[in-house]
Amino acid sequence: GLEAKKHKFSPKFKPIRPTTKDDVVLPEGFRYDVVAVYGDRINKAGDTFGFNADFTCFLPIDGRSDHGLLWVNHEYLGELEYYVTGYDALNADPKQNRRTAEQIRKYLYALGGSVIEVKKENGRWKLVSDSAYGCRVSGLTKHVLTGPAASIAKEVTGTFANCSGGVTLWNTILSCEENFQDVVNDCKLPDSRHYGWVVEVDPFDPASTPKKHTALGRFSHENTAMVIAPTGQLVVYMGDDANDQYVYKYVSKGKYDPKAGKQNSKLLEEGTLYVANFGKGAWIALDYASNEVLQQATDSAGKPLFSSQADVLVNCRDAAKAVGATPMDRPEDVEVHPIDGSVFIAMTNNAKHGNFYGQIVRLFEQDGNHAGTAFTFEIFAAGGPQSGFAAPDNMAFDSAGNLWVVTDISSSSMNSGIYTPFGNNGVYLIPTSGDHKGEAVQFASAPVGAEMTGPWFTPDEKTLFLSVQHPGENLTSYDRPTSHWPKGGSSVALPGVIAITGF
Ligand code: FEO
Ligand code: CA
Ligand code: CA
Ligand code: CA
Repeated sequence: GLEAKKHKFSPKFKPIRPTTKDDVVLPEGFRYDVVAVYGDRINKAGDTFGFNADFTCFLPIDGRSDHGLLWVNHEYLGELEYYVTGYDALNADPKQNRRTAEQIRKYLYALGGSVIEVKKENGRWKLVSDSAYGCRVSGLTKHVLTGPAASIAKEVTGTFANCSGGVTLWNTILSCEENFQDVVNDCKLPDSRHYGWVVEVDPFDPASTPKKHTALGRFSHENTAMVIAPTGQLVVYMGDDANDQYVYKYVSKGKYDPKAGKQNSKLLEEGTLYVANFGKGAWIALDYASNEVLQQATDSAGKPLFSSQADVLVNCRDAAKAVGATPMDRPEDVEVHPIDGSVFIAMTNNAKHGNFYGQIVRLFEQDGNHAGTAFTFEIFAAGGPQSGFAAPDNMAFDSAGNLWVVTDISSSSMNSGIYTPFGNNGVYLIPTSGDHKGEAVQFASAPVGAEMTGPWFTPDEKTLFLSVQHPGENLTSYDRPTSHWPKGGSSVALPGVIAITGF
């Protein structure tokens, strides 16, 4: 096992040890409530909570920390598809078997996101199952496109592969489409260009149409971190979670106006998308009109790669590569430090480079200018047996500037080989200043096969919402126990969202 170093940071909880227990394991004095699991009813109309919960974001009602809306992403089905559609993807012969139209409908409905109303009563968090706010945005919902590539389609059906996301300064949600190609292939959808965007949803207006903002580029979006630059411009940091892909930021043309409320959404339609070159410490503008490299880039046959800004945004990875951006080890969550404005980026791993444990990079914008083009960086914390965590993924800050990190050791590698010492995936607290800066202590452990995703605190920091994603994944085909979380006994494991209290 992992030996705790004597001088380790002492948080306000007694750290737990790595474990393989099939439960959410927490320090003494903490408890969790299961708020919603797959299939739970979320409104009067009978809509239900989707599958493989990921990003969570709490939006207070009337400023309260015990009553609000929770947005939850639903990312994918994977081998657990048979829970949802009855189609056994694990044992299907890809040449013989085809999903029926009804199986595809169920598949797409289970993805996207849910708006649920949650309340704390008598110390316990629960779902309001007949809420007037309860609403689904799914693979079947109509969306519109905005920005320079909006002309590629009048209307788009569905969002899916929604991994992590973020909240805007005007209380809407940004949900990120990540591995959309898997769904496009499984469901044989005609146009993959419609996916891979950042989607804006207004949880307080169930009748609103979600928007896909093309100005933020098309790639495997992990999440968004929004800040206001000293110039008043809005800045959105983003990672592309794939081996050797890039870190981006979007800078709005106009300035944020707190009095304009939801009208600020327009800022996500016109601006400049930059990609990071870590060797030069420079942000490079992916702007077709001003960038000669993009204008002159050709494919191997000598044909121009791009002829407009829309082309650049739709084929962002090619554009980033053409301008010499630095390939990274799967950039997952990006979060901005609430006190000093430094930018934390989780590089989860990249087996191709022998980077098995991942690390967290800390980027410093020159003069603290988020809208600028120069930066420096350091490795803030590296995963491994010494540090006690591996494969950092989603992150959240508390108001003291401590970083809360969840890990995503893949369910196929968990508790085997080099990953054995870490036990199941976990939640870790890492101070960002002081004597114990960069040292991780473990706060929670996930059920068997699961990762915990999308950590989000209530404004009073008394509750931490987290998703329990893919419990039991990759264990059904091996001689290992399958998870029975959260119902125990011989029940089938269900993904869902929990509320941790005791802070
Ligand atoms: Fe869906 Fe990047 O994890
Ligand atoms: Ca993730
Ligand atoms: Ca994952
Ligand atoms: Ca991940």
